Amino acid sequence: MTILKSLLASAAILVPVVAMAEGETVGFSQIGSESGWRAAETTVTKQQAEERGITLKFADAQQKQENQIKAIRGFVAQGVDAILLAPVVATGWEDVLEEAKDADIPVILLDRNIDAPEDLYMTAVTSDQVHEGMVAGNWLKEAVAGEECPIVELQGTTGSSPAISRKKGFEEAIADAPNLKITRSQTGDFTRAQGKVVMESFLKSEGGANICALYAHNDDMAVGAIQAIKEAGLKPGEDIKIVSIDSVPDIHLAMKAGEANATVELTPNMAGPAFDVLEAYWKDGTMPPKWIQTESKLYTSDDDNAAIYESKKDLGY
Ligand code: AHR
Repeated sequence: MTILKSLLASAAILVPVVAMAEGETVGFSQIGSESGWRAAETTVTKQQAEERGITLKFADAQQKQENQIKAIRGFVAQGVDAILLAPVVATGWEDVLEEAKDADIPVILLDRNIDAPEDLYMTAVTSDQVHEGMVAGNWLKEAVAGEECPIVELQGTTGSSPAISRKKGFEEAIADAPNLKITRSQTGDFTRAQGKVVMESFLKSEGGANICALYAHNDDMAVGAIQAIKEAGLKPGEDIKIVSIDSVPDIHLAMKAGEANATVELTPNMAGPAFDVLEAYWKDGTMPPKWIQTESKLYTSDDDNAAIYESKKDLGY
């Protein structure tokens, strides 16, 4: 053994067995940039990684599951230390997650759930999406106070966990209110553009006078719909009540203007708890619970929406 080799060998004894976060590499398979909320989640994840000295490999899947699967396979081939996955849809992940598991790479789900055995991922950092729908439904039930209220619904991306669960929660909340009925429901794919197009078709088929409220699975679709309602000569927030989810800055502007009524907040900081978990795991092998739940807070037009807008507007939305 050369002197150098023997020096390295003795130094290795002093290096802790489990690596620390500094210098670790994490792959992040992001869905895309369909909403303001999604943009903020990407910004926060990059900031969190930088602050912790973690190298982040970022892959934007442009809303396609096949791109996410390719990205995960790429991360496995590169031998990253962990993978963050924001899964566009709930099904079809088993094979690729088995590959990550076989390579001993922990996977953490961000903001959406999947239908797969729990041993295929380390934990999921998400809100309770059924609860979000219930909060929205309960708000509307109270707001209409027993009056007849036909509702139109803009669903999120078909097959995604928030679209499935937010619909379920809302329906459960209004199930005991015969005055509340969903008359039309269609996907707007979580985008402003589709929210506007689909709302236009609701207004055309139902007639504005026959729509009392809009429930949108995210704020961006609600913002698009607000535009459609205004173009139809109606007053959003008054003629048609609007409740949605995310709490992006633009919906607070709309609430300040009286054009939207309520939103349920979803934090874009999913990466903070995910990196905390990974750091604990890398330090001493600590395993987290299978679900790390983020908060869901209701904001309405009674809140100081100008102040909330100011506090959020520079956060990457
Ligand atoms: O999974 C979270 C949802 O995805 C957000 O509510 C929506 O804006 C995004 O596209």
